[in-house]
Amino acid sequence: QNTMTPAAYERHTAELTNCIIAFLSPILPTEEEYRIKEATRRQLERLASKVSPGAKLLAFGSMANGFALRNSDMDLCCLTSKKDGKPATQHTASELVEILSQLIREETDFNVMPLPRARIPIIKISRAPTPELPYEIACDIGFENRLALENTRLLLSYAMVDPPRLRTLVLFLKVWSKRRKLNSPYTGTLSSYGYTLLALYFLTHVKRPAVLPNLQRVPPTRQLKPEELELDGHNIYFYDDVATLRKEWTSQNTENVGELLIEFFRYFSKEFSYAKDVISLRTEGGLLSKDSKSWNSELCIEDPFQMGYNVSRTVTKDGLYTIRGEFMRASRILMNPKSQRVSALIAELC
Ligand code: CTP
Ligand code: MG
Repeated sequence: QNTMTPAAYERHTAELTNCIIAFLSPILPTEEEYRIKEATRRQLERLASKVSPGAKLLAFGSMANGFALRNSDMDLCCLTSKKDGKPATQHTASELVEILSQLIREETDFNVMPLPRARIPIIKISRAPTPELPYEIACDIGFENRLALENTRLLLSYAMVDPPRLRTLVLFLKVWSKRRKLNSPYTGTLSSYGYTLLALYFLTHVKRPAVLPNLQRVPPTRQLKPEELELDGHNIYFYDDVATLRKEWTSQNTENVGELLIEFFRYFSKEFSYAKDVISLRTEGGLLSKDSKSWNSELCIEDPFQMGYNVSRTVTKDGLYTIRGEFMRASRILMNPKSQRVSALIAELC
């Protein structure tokens, strides 16, 4: 319940915005961290190309989508096949995992854990920080996951349309969800990718006026090549001419991040219909019904490109109960007019 006067609320959200920015700034990656991670990527790419000539190792996830925090894991995708889809080597992904793992073990000081028989075969590598390299490296290498590269590019494009608000909101949700232990798909809660899609849905489809356009529905302004439209049978189109978009898209919405964050928590505490609805960014309005998709998970978030894939399928009944409880707690704390210092609210919240 908002018991503040409009003027007091405006002051409160303005101060909250400043506090969120100040809170995030020391936990963003440094230039040096980016440099070291990029050097690591190149080192691993050299090894991958020994296994499969011409192989590329591309970053996806937070190191590439504009939503990285200090010490984020690196997600890398190894592409061996050529553009026309023909494989450059005869190896399966599982074999590549075995062979490349062996080579990384021989030629580097990384800890290497191959997972050749996982649903998606990957290599997990890590290295503890040392005085010379004071950054922990934790990296997953997958194979041929072009859809992940595309959804990373989609997130990056959104991040560039309205950097101050989307980036700040997503980064804050990532820190908050990690500190509150709500960011762990293996134990029943939601991945960072899932929280990012919630934020995009909120800014594109819930807020009126919208903070962001629906990039998957902005018509193209040039002739597109077939490979820009379809990948493995999925429609991967989105408007990616960000330079033009930044000139032409000005949101009528002038709310600050503090206000958007409060409303985000309130919306997902009270308004969103978890029982009936599926979040679907590509869809006009942003929602489909669980019935129409025959989905019955606790929380349903359709992947932007893989329509059959529920990004939040890992969220259990208990997990959702906890997450919703935390959304309510967050709303309550951020609207506490008694507290004097807004920075203390953030400390309590995370
Ligand atoms: N991804 C996916 N489906 C999921 C989870 C992740 O396709 N259920 C892919 C997406 O391409 C996403 C990437 O894996 O961009 C990384 O996901 P995640 O680690 O959740 O997000 P990050 O932005 O990397 O966050 P963090 O810094 O917490 O690692
Ligand atoms: Mg990641």
